[in-house]
Amino acid sequence: MNPFRFGKEYVPECFIDREREYSEILAGVQNGVNLVLIAPRRFGKTWLLQKFARESGFPTLYIDLFGILSVRDFATQMAQEAYRLLREENPVAFVTRFLKDIAQYVSFSITAWGVSFSLHPTLPEEECLQEALRLPHVLHETLKTQVVVILDEFQEYERLSPKLPGLIRSAFQRKGGTSYIFSGSRRHLLERLFFTTSGPLYFSAKRVDMSNFLPREATLSYLEERFRKSGKNIQEEALLYLFDLTRGHPYYVQFLSYEVWNLGGQWITKDTVDAACEMLLCHESYNYDVLIEALGYKHLKKVLSLLASKEKEIFNPQVLTRWGISSPALLQKTLAKLIDYGIVEKLHPGKYELLDPLFAMYVERRFGSR
Ligand SMILES: Nc1ncnc2c1ncn2[C@@H]1O[C@H](COP(=O)(O)OP(=O)(O)O)[C@@H](O)[C@H]1O
Ligand SMILES: [Mg+2]
Repeated sequence: MNPFRFGKEYVPECFIDREREYSEILAGVQNGVNLVLIAPRRFGKTWLLQKFARESGFPTLYIDLFGILSVRDFATQMAQEAYRLLREENPVAFVTRFLKDIAQYVSFSITAWGVSFSLHPTLPEEECLQEALRLPHVLHETLKTQVVVILDEFQEYERLSPKLPGLIRSAFQRKGGTSYIFSGSRRHLLERLFFTTSGPLYFSAKRVDMSNFLPREATLSYLEERFRKSGKNIQEEALLYLFDLTRGHPYYVQFLSYEVWNLGGQWITKDTVDAACEMLLCHESYNYDVLIEALGYKHLKKVLSLLASKEKEIFNPQVLTRWGISSPALLQKTLAKLIDYGIVEKLHPGKYELLDPLFAMYVERRFGSR
């Protein structure tokens, strides 16, 4: 069986490093503080948070706001998570004890996957939210331990209810015993929310940054071991090449290795890695076209092409002229947007990089160099 994994579900035996970030989160929760995990897309936020939920020993409610369609949906999922944590056998007892103020609006059904709650549409949105946010505190009083609430893809709150941050703030100010972990990739949006004086969650959470790729040594030994133990030998040259192509980008470490494993026979060479990379590129090109179209910034293609080039001094006037970018301010503005979307990161002073290694290859080929 292919030993590499990608997707939302955390797989412990495929997890590499992130020890610093994990310890920071653990220490934060042990000290009763809230945290904000900020990292570009596909850098492993969800995997890290799921690892925490499974392995830290703290009772944890995990909600992925991306998949939540309404405030009622949010409250229902919080109830669902609370029910799971309490290991309550009886849904009626759970509702009467923990959702007593809104009990008349709650119904449940028993499905093959367990108990599923729903809230009546006439329950006002604000009450829905307040009840949902009260649950972690009630849980804390019952379980007598710190309760953790993970709100993954938190930037999505805007779509659900702009009131959510303010209500969360008053919930944890009123009562203790909980730590919230907010997570997302929209850097500026989260920074505005948590680290500017006008942000509704200002000064209420500690920042955990995760903009670094996976470390080379740990990733190489992970890859070597996974190939070997699954009965395939990868030549050293091919292994190093595989890592270099991914640059340690978590998603591509798994995804490219997965394709290499499928394509390769008993002995995997550099050619196999090249062939797998071409396949992925072909597969992702369409998505990249859509992404570029959706972003739709003027001069975007020129800026991307400049970033994918070997050019070091991207703000140099001669370089800008060669790329047909009319001013440094325009470049700066486009870069700021790309950073906000987690497409570009300033990894070293003055050095902006396209984070997705495959996207960089695509840009280079599609828009050429100057
Ligand atoms: N620490 C890690 N070690 C190895 N692979 C990882 C790690 N974190 C993430 N991945 C891989 O990257 C993929 C994307 O991770 P995910 O947690 O969904 O990213 P995010 O939530 O930041 O968008 C995962 O499906 C997995 O294949
Ligand atoms: Mg995620």
